[in-house]
Amino acid sequence: MKNLSRRSVLTLGAALGLVGVADPSKAWAWSSAGSIAGVDAVTDPWSVWDDATDPLVASLLERGQIPAVNTAMESWVRNGDPLPGAFPADLTTYLRQANVLPSWADRAKLNQAAQFNKRMSMYLFLLYGLGSGIMSTVIPREARNVYWSEGGADMKSRAAKTFTYGYDLSAIDAFQPTGHFVVTSQKTRLTHAAVRHLLPQSRAWRGVTDDQDFIPISNGDILITFHSLGTFVHGKLGDWGIRMSAAEQAAYLHMWQVALHLLGVRDDFIPATWAAAKQQSAYALTPLLAPTPEGIDLAEILLGLTAQIDLGVTRGFLNEFVRYVLSDQIGDWLKLRRDYVARGLIEVGWPAYVAFREGLSPIMPNGFSMFDRFVRALAMLFLNNGTSATYTPITIPTANRPG
Ligand code: HEM
Repeated sequence: MKNLSRRSVLTLGAALGLVGVADPSKAWAWSSAGSIAGVDAVTDPWSVWDDATDPLVASLLERGQIPAVNTAMESWVRNGDPLPGAFPADLTTYLRQANVLPSWADRAKLNQAAQFNKRMSMYLFLLYGLGSGIMSTVIPREARNVYWSEGGADMKSRAAKTFTYGYDLSAIDAFQPTGHFVVTSQKTRLTHAAVRHLLPQSRAWRGVTDDQDFIPISNGDILITFHSLGTFVHGKLGDWGIRMSAAEQAAYLHMWQVALHLLGVRDDFIPATWAAAKQQSAYALTPLLAPTPEGIDLAEILLGLTAQIDLGVTRGFLNEFVRYVLSDQIGDWLKLRRDYVARGLIEVGWPAYVAFREGLSPIMPNGFSMFDRFVRALAMLFLNNGTSATYTPITIPTANRPG
């Protein structure tokens, strides 16, 4: 990004555990030799959208069929559910192709990823929620898109829908017929296609966007978000000294590779290894991080909503935990109020808590029960949304945020 020096980019990347060997000040030069397609070509993912889905959803919107599709989607939740009979014929034809795992999906690896998710669940919910969730507010395009799309006006509901995705992905049967993730991915892909059609019609969004082409959520944008989720979490778990076998790490990456495919990302952009993913994130994510008025507002809303839950910690602690996982640079961008006492507690207590939990140290640290309550309460936030009667289904938007 323009106002960050190469040195700052590298420092920020290191803090986020996202440093790669690429020169982040240069334009896109990630070779698809490092992708699962394994073809040695350099293609710009910011000029690739979703040709299979976008015209279909644009047509459904123009035909006024999305409200009926949303109603029909209520009964379509499990991977093994039949496609609703009330779906328009062209949507059914499309989903017969799209609603399947790619030919290269490896069931054994997906099962291993599910076991890994179970073992890591406490850390995953914490890192996805307070790490990736808040990081999304300093990814300028994503922050602006989320803010100016329909869901931006009701962040509580939007956060709950996003939790649905994380919960469904991390569930033990995520990719099985009883699981939800494949269907949730289809709903998300359709939602993104609707946003591509709708947002360019928003005057407010057009006024703030720096997209030359005015079509949001390209393959490049989705890759960036993947790095703020999977690549970031993988890096942090490693930084925290959590033991992960090589097979577990490969399985966790494979789960994300399948997830990216289901969101419409082309195989020649999907990294084949964690090394390739880190290198790609050095081009695609770290240099683009920056504050925006929309992102600052969204972060405040998201942290305000989180602080309403009884986590047993103060808002100052929450702010400092976000700073701890995302860096003070990002904390300053988001104007997160300082609490140096809480920071001291986190700096000393968190590594000790992790070491004790992971059996790497026999000494139970002083703040153990506070950290434990905090981590469990955050996990419950996810689990409640996944299992409670207040479950918030993903629906395809039909309009933008008024404004
Ligand atoms: C909607 C996940 C990438 C912008 C959604 C939803 C999910 C989701 C689960 C449906 C819930 C909702 O409506 O809020 C993901 C995942 C991504 C990704 C897993 C990548 C791995 C992106 C990117 C952008 C984006 C890169 C923009 C640059 C949006 C917007 C909505 C949305 C604007 C619609 C919100 C509305 O209804 O108004 N996404 N997303 N997403 N996403 Fe994404």
